[in-house]
Amino acid sequence: METIYLNNRQVQAVLSVPECIGVIEIVFKNLHLSQMPPKIYLDIPDGDFRAMPAIFDKTAGIKWCGVQLDTTKQKRKINIFAKVLINDVDSGKLLAIMDGEAITAIRTAAVTGVATDYMAKKDAKVAAFIGCGNQTKYQVEAILAVRDIEKLHLFDLDSKRCEYIGSQFDIEYEAFEDVESCIRDADIVTTLTPSRTPFIKHAWLKDVVHINAIGADAEGKRELAPCVLDNVDVVVFDNWEQCSHSGEVQYRPEKLDSYSKGHKKQEWTDLGDIVHSEKDLSGYNQTIFDATGLAIEDVATARYIYQKLITRPITENAEYETF
Ligand SMILES: NC(=O)c1ccc[n+]([C@@H]2O[C@H](COP(=O)([O-])OP(=O)(O)OC[C@H]3O[C@@H](n4cnc5c(N)ncnc54)[C@H](O)[C@@H]3O)[C@@H](O)[C@H]2O)c1
Repeated sequence: METIYLNNRQVQAVLSVPECIGVIEIVFKNLHLSQMPPKIYLDIPDGDFRAMPAIFDKTAGIKWCGVQLDTTKQKRKINIFAKVLINDVDSGKLLAIMDGEAITAIRTAAVTGVATDYMAKKDAKVAAFIGCGNQTKYQVEAILAVRDIEKLHLFDLDSKRCEYIGSQFDIEYEAFEDVESCIRDADIVTTLTPSRTPFIKHAWLKDVVHINAIGADAEGKRELAPCVLDNVDVVVFDNWEQCSHSGEVQYRPEKLDSYSKGHKKQEWTDLGDIVHSEKDLSGYNQTIFDATGLAIEDVATARYIYQKLITRPITENAEYETF
């Protein structure tokens, strides 16, 4: 078998967000099968380049990714440029090179799906999204896959983006003019902006709410005011080492201490712990999932796509190139 190459459209034709939720749940149940050094960041004035290597089970791989914070000079308004390469651990063979924008969007949404499924209340009905850019359509798909949502609340600095996202789904939606009114009645809040200034205050949240903090994935980015992290019941991160460098929890001065010693009033733990031990969080009312995006998610997702392609006939939509 030659190395295969899949572009963005081909990746999307093979793997949906709801299916990827199953893949990502397996990853977090089996973190003992993984090796993952911290991401390597090369900083530039308006973003960064990052290398994300990992091994998950029998697959080694790396995502090479460029993140542009300022997309105003571009026609296509793309802020992530990426490729994922995977090798078989036993043979060393390069199995595939895949479009990393599609893998990033699908796997990031799938992680939100897993976290929301384990952490949000079962009867959540209103899901709010702050930031309606490239990731958001996939994030909505993930939350609709795990909860019976009746209404979407949308806010973006560019109101046209809200209308675009809302029109993609067969469900009631409302576009808001400010963050506060968007999240006030929301049972689940997902933040998806490249902001470096916090914009969510604790006083604006419902007493029972789950937050997915997805936008902060590099040093200096943040979406939640400090009072949010200080006052919720549970903070769950995708990976402590990454989140304490690049996620929302980078702003907690006592962070390592509270994690290692156990915070007095709050539970701080990682998603692997929750998923592996099937921890019951139903007694907690306000929860945060802090995600920075992990290389093991990219590698496992790419391997799943590869396995799917080599074990089923190639359809017209999912043809791939060899080279
Ligand atoms: N955690 C992860 O695994 C992960 C994965 C992918 C992307 N990300 C991050 O998620 C963020 C969003 O990614 P994207 O690809 O959708 O970006 P994008 O540039 O396509 O969209 C960002 C949207 O946020 C809006 N926005 C910016 N500041 C805002 C604010 N203060 N309030 C409301 N809206 C605001 C913009 O108008 C834009 O529509 C980025 O920071 C990206 O780096 C994280």
